[in-house]
Formats: sequence, structure tokens, C-alpha cells
Amino acid sequence: VARNFFIGGNWKMNGSVAQVKSLVEGLNTINVPTQTEVVVSPPALYIDRVRANLKKDIGVAAQNSYVKASGAYTGEISPEQLKDLGINWVILGHSERREYFAESDKFVGQKTAHALKAGVSVIACIGEKLEEREANITSQVVTRQLKGIADEINDWTNVVVAYEPVWAIGTGKVATPEQAEEVHVTLRAWLASNVSQKVADSVRIIYGGSVNAKNAAELGKHCNAWASHSLTHSLISLLFLIATKPNIDGFLVGGASLKATDFNTIVQAR
Ligand code: G3H
Repeated sequence: VARNFFIGGNWKMNGSVAQVKSLVEGLNTINVPTQTEVVVSPPALYIDRVRANLKKDIGVAAQNSYVKASGAYTGEISPEQLKDLGINWVILGHSERREYFAESDKFVGQKTAHALKAGVSVIACIGEKLEEREANITSQVVTRQLKGIADEINDWTNVVVAYEPVWAIGTGKVATPEQAEEVHVTLRAWLASNVSQKVADSVRIIYGGSVNAKNAAELGKHCNAWASHSLTHSLISLLFLIATKPNIDGFLVGGASLKATDFNTIVQAR
């Protein structure tokens, strides 16, 4: 199954009016390759002006949304309101929200279900902490998080799963392609057994955690378009690609998405 490459840029709680303006100007010069989807995620305060000024072939995502359409929920944003502004994506379950705002697997699943129902596509984040990797429970943790989502939704068409090992986020410690690929394979196998083979084959699973302009190409070699750049690969990587079921469908980029030139290098990594 051909899965389009997906690059997300999560700006987190960064930027000012001036910085957002200059970043949008830089992003507007990016040539989005065919079969690649690019989505950036500004802080909520700037989301409207970003959507208004950013070229339309780059999507815009919120960094969070709530489980209600409207009402007395001070500080929250609904997917219906995002839709109203032309925002078609939301990042849910980011490890920073799970950690600092105590979001449970179930709540992330419920938010995912509500966003999808409102017509907003979801970048659903999962990932293990360092102590969990060291305790050899990475698979249990990421499949438990995935189950939290699977329990609440039936249709995975508008979901992108972002595997982001917490120990790799903002630390400069990027997972090796092999570490990322291993978890992506586990996730696809879990989806095949617990949801369906069709969903396992079609859902995009992207990697996040210290992806930068230098390492994206190395990780990107494991994406499913090996044929398009196989001529430039060494025999070893080509053999590796042929031997490996390719499972990395793109990246969720934090720090490096704040510089348009670096982000562009990652967008072109495939
Ligand atoms: O959502 C993005 C991730 O948290 C990765 O952040 O690229 O700064 O490590 P990072």
C-alpha cells in the first residue's frame, strides 16, 4: 500500500507576532513535493493568522483540542471551532500534554474521537519514556497508548500516528532508524491483530524526536518510497531497504520546524 509521506512541524509554545510572520514567509517559499503532505502547528493564539497567510498546500494543525463542541470549558478549544477557521488538523496526546497536563490514554482517545467526528484529522502521539525503554517495556507502553485510541474510534482514515520516544524529544538524542523502525513494525502488527490488516497497511506512522536537517535523510531512507531514490543509495542501504518492510512514513518535527530552511530540508528528505 502506498502511503504518502507526512511531515509535521510542531512549533509548541514558541514564537511572537514578528517570528510567526517571518516563519510563514519562509514556509511560503517551500516547494511541497508530490505525494508529500506538510502540516505546521502554531500555538493557538497565532493559528488564525498562520492559516490566513500560509500557502494552501501546507496544512495547519492545532496543538490540542477538547471533547466538546462549545460550552463552559474555560481555556479550551473545540475541533468545531478549528474547522470554522479552516484548520483541518490537530495534534493530540503529545507527551508534553500527557506529562504536564496529566492526559490519560483514555482522554487522548476520547479527544481523538471527538476531533474526527468534527471533521478534523488527528496526529495522535505515543511514545515511551527513557525508564520504560530501559525496563524493556517499550512495546507494552506504545501498544497500550494505541489501544486508548483504538477503543474510541472505528475509522482510522484521518489519523496519523506519531511515534515519539520521550527520551528523544528536544534532547538531541535521535532514535536510530533501526530503533524507530522496530517500534513502527510493532505498532503495525498490533493494528493488524487488533483493528484490521487494512488499517495496519494504510495508516501512516511517523517518527518524532530530535529530527533535524542533518538526520532526516538517514531516517527517511526507511520510508516506503525507496524506489524513487534507490539509484543514489549504496548497495548496502538498497539491500537493507529491500529486505525491510518500510514503516516510517514521515516525521513530526519540533525545534527544527522553527527555521524554514531546516524544515524545508526535512520536507525534501524523502
Ligand atoms: O512534536 C514534536 C516532538 O516533540 C519533537 O520535538 O524535534 O524538538 O525533539 P523535537
